[in-house]
Amino acid sequence: MKVAIIGAGNMGGAIARGLVAAGALKEEKIAVSNHSRGKLDKLNDEYPDIYTTTSNTEVINDANLIILAVKPWHIKQVIEEIAPYVDFSYQMLMSIAAGVTLADMASWVSEYSHAPILFRAIPNTAILVGESMTFMSAAGASDEDITDVTRLFGSLGRADVIDENLMVAATALCSCGIAYVMRYIRAATEGAVELGFKPSKARDYIMQTMLGAVTLLANTGNNPEVEIDRVTTPGGLTIKGLNAMEKAGFTTSVIEGLKASV
Ligand SMILES: NC(=O)c1ccc[n+]([C@@H]2O[C@H](COP(=O)([O-])OP(=O)(O)OC[C@H]3O[C@@H](n4cnc5c(N)ncnc54)[C@H](OP(=O)(O)O)[C@@H]3O)[C@@H](O)[C@H]2O)c1
Repeated sequence: MKVAIIGAGNMGGAIARGLVAAGALKEEKIAVSNHSRGKLDKLNDEYPDIYTTTSNTEVINDANLIILAVKPWHIKQVIEEIAPYVDFSYQMLMSIAAGVTLADMASWVSEYSHAPILFRAIPNTAILVGESMTFMSAAGASDEDITDVTRLFGSLGRADVIDENLMVAATALCSCGIAYVMRYIRAATEGAVELGFKPSKARDYIMQTMLGAVTLLANTGNNPEVEIDRVTTPGGLTIKGLNAMEKAGFTTSVIEGLKASV
């Protein structure tokens, strides 16, 4: 598969770097465009064989998958720019822009194709380290297209195809979710400092504890409550801590935060 990425910013750059780092695609199978050269030059300093250009119409040449990684308000303009040059019989168009729907994309290409192969995807910033939770919805794609694209994004973490009507909720859970997890780490660090740890040490200890918790769930398949029960002795310290957190509104805060971000 050859991939063209339009927009070499945080997400576009991370996808290009991630695909090479994961060995999913060789550098020469990736082409990236950006309307200014700076970020492209930086990318080429690291990966000289990635093809870069400031031309969006040139970058899509022969690409099986065209990833639009520009801000949401630039997507329509970019689609309208490239649509006359896209061979819709095999070239798949993917937007990773928050809020841009498959129907939006279909309407913007309708002058050129009534059966485009479209993907809408939402990765998160952990794509930079190959640990994204990426959600995808598709229209007009064959099972093989979906398998190929899911495999590609699976090399950058985990990728799941979901109903498009869940896309906004998925964005709250896993894209905004990165910030929510970071906020827990920050809060725990502040608590740890009050308990006497240096902040840098505290952060390392909390990260390892989170990694341990996640690995426990991943390896055992257990419900979180099972793992909570294992550290919660009746009358012990953990239950006192959990109850104090709940009194301060922990679960409610998380649920309200998720609901507020849709
Ligand atoms: N950040 C997240 O957590 C996240 C998660 C999921 C999805 N997304 C989506 O990913 C998309 C990109 O976000 P980002 O954070 O990567 O933004 P970004 O860092 O601003 O990157 C956008 C890039 O597109 C370039 N660009 C703008 N207009 C262009 C055009 N007409 N042709 C070619 N290149 C153009 C910009 O170049 P200049 O800087 O030179 O103007 C910039 O390098 C957004 O739609 C966002 O909704 C973001």
